[in-house]
Amino acid sequence: MLKKSIEEELNRQVNEELYSYYIYLAMVGYFESEGWKGMASWMRIQADEEMTHARKIYNYIISRGSRIALKAIAEPPGEWDSVLDAFRAALKHEEYITGKINDLVDLAVKENDHASRSFLQWFIDEQVEEEENVGDVVRLLERAGDKSQTLFMVDKELAGRQPATSAEENA
Ligand code: FEO
Repeated sequence: MLKKSIEEELNRQVNEELYSYYIYLAMVGYFESEGWKGMASWMRIQADEEMTHARKIYNYIISRGSRIALKAIAEPPGEWDSVLDAFRAALKHEEYITGKINDLVDLAVKENDHASRSFLQWFIDEQVEEEENVGDVVRLLERAGDKSQTLFMVDKELAGRQPATSAEENA
C-alpha cells in the first residue's frame, strides 16, 4: 500500500493528466474550427496519449492497494490568438507537467518508496519526448510565420503523426 502522501500526489497527477487531455481536446476543437485538419489530428493523438497517462497512474494506484480519489477537472480555454499561440501554450503546459513529475519523484525519494520511484521513470522519459515533440512544432510554426502556403505545408506534415502503439503507451 502507498503512503498517504504519495497516494494523494498520484491522485493529483491523475487529475493533471486528465486536464492535459481536456486542454488538448479544446485545442483540437480550435484547430478544427480554423480549418487546420492536420494540426487537429496531431493534437487529437496528443490528447489520447494524455488519457493513457492518466490511466497508467490510475492503474498503478489500484495495483498498490490504494484509493482512487477523482477530483473535478478544470475548464480549459477554448480560444487562442493563433495556431502558434496554441502550440506555445501546449509547450508551456508540458513544461509545467514535467515539473509536477519531478516533484513526484522527489517525494518518492523522500518517502523511500522505490517502487513508485521506478514507476515514475517512464514518465520522466516520456516528458523529454513530449517537450521535444511539441517544441519541434513550435519551431516549425515560428519559421512559417504568417505565410499561408508554409502553414499549409506544416499542417499537411502534422497530419502524418501516427498514434503510439507500444503496449506501455496504451496501458
Ligand atoms: Fe502526460 Fe503530456 O504529459
